[in-house]
Amino acid sequence: MTINVAVSGAAGRMGATVCRAVQAADDMALAGRADPELEVALEDVLGDADVVVDFTIPDQALRNARLCLEAGVHCVMGTTGANFSELEGVGEANLFVAPNFAIGAVLLMEASKRIARHMPECEIVELHHDHKLDAPSGTALRTAEQIRTAGGNVHEPIHSVRLPGLVAHEEVVFGGPGQTLSLRHNSIDRESFMPGVLLAVRRVGSLERSPTVGLEQLLES
Ligand SMILES: NC(=O)c1ccc[n+]([C@@H]2O[C@H](COP(=O)([O-])OP(=O)(O)OC[C@H]3O[C@@H](n4cnc5c(N)ncnc54)[C@H](O)[C@@H]3O)[C@@H](O)[C@H]2O)c1
Repeated sequence: MTINVAVSGAAGRMGATVCRAVQAADDMALAGRADPELEVALEDVLGDADVVVDFTIPDQALRNARLCLEAGVHCVMGTTGANFSELEGVGEANLFVAPNFAIGAVLLMEASKRIARHMPECEIVELHHDHKLDAPSGTALRTAEQIRTAGGNVHEPIHSVRLPGLVAHEEVVFGGPGQTLSLRHNSIDRESFMPGVLLAVRRVGSLERSPTVGLEQLLES
């Protein structure tokens, strides 16, 4: 069965990459491209879509997710810098949110939780291209939340670096008596996010709760 996917933010860096990934997937069809730059509104593509993938801007993301859910269209949300908890129970469709769709970033978070049990003191440095609107990154906030839940002490502030030449990078540095341990993940190309985005498109319709947050929720342990 073909999944009809519309992309919100289709003219952007991530949106354009998602359009190409959807077109290359055997089980998906690109049902629409919404973006003010293309003069196409999200409302105009909802009728043809089973799933919307949103990579837009922080102050539009909540509105876009609500539009999808109220129209009965599942939503895969990649836009960071917004809180979607108020959308619990809205509409019949499901919302899946991931601050980071790269498997390496998810594995960094998982490893950090284990390390924090033994070396709780740590700092997070996140580094991104200089067009990123939110800081600290959604990935860094999620990493901090997970480390704290595991008993770690994430020092404030989280450090945010914005420079041309970077894509998306995160380093967690743990320190204990006489030793440090650093974990670093680098997304050097936006292709790194595509397997996670396509997995979420395939799974969003069968989620048990909405919103579901975090790619780790969709991965085998
Ligand atoms: N979750 C992840 O793995 C991940 C990875 C990379 C980036 N991101 C996030 O994705 C978002 C987009 O990043 P980007 O680098 O592609 O940004 P970008 O600026 O290149 O693209 C954003 C696009 O959204 C469009 N847009 C704005 N308002 C819109 C609306 N109401 N409806 C439809 N389109 C609209 C803009 O015109 C633009 O083309 C950011 O929040 C970024 O932090 C998430």
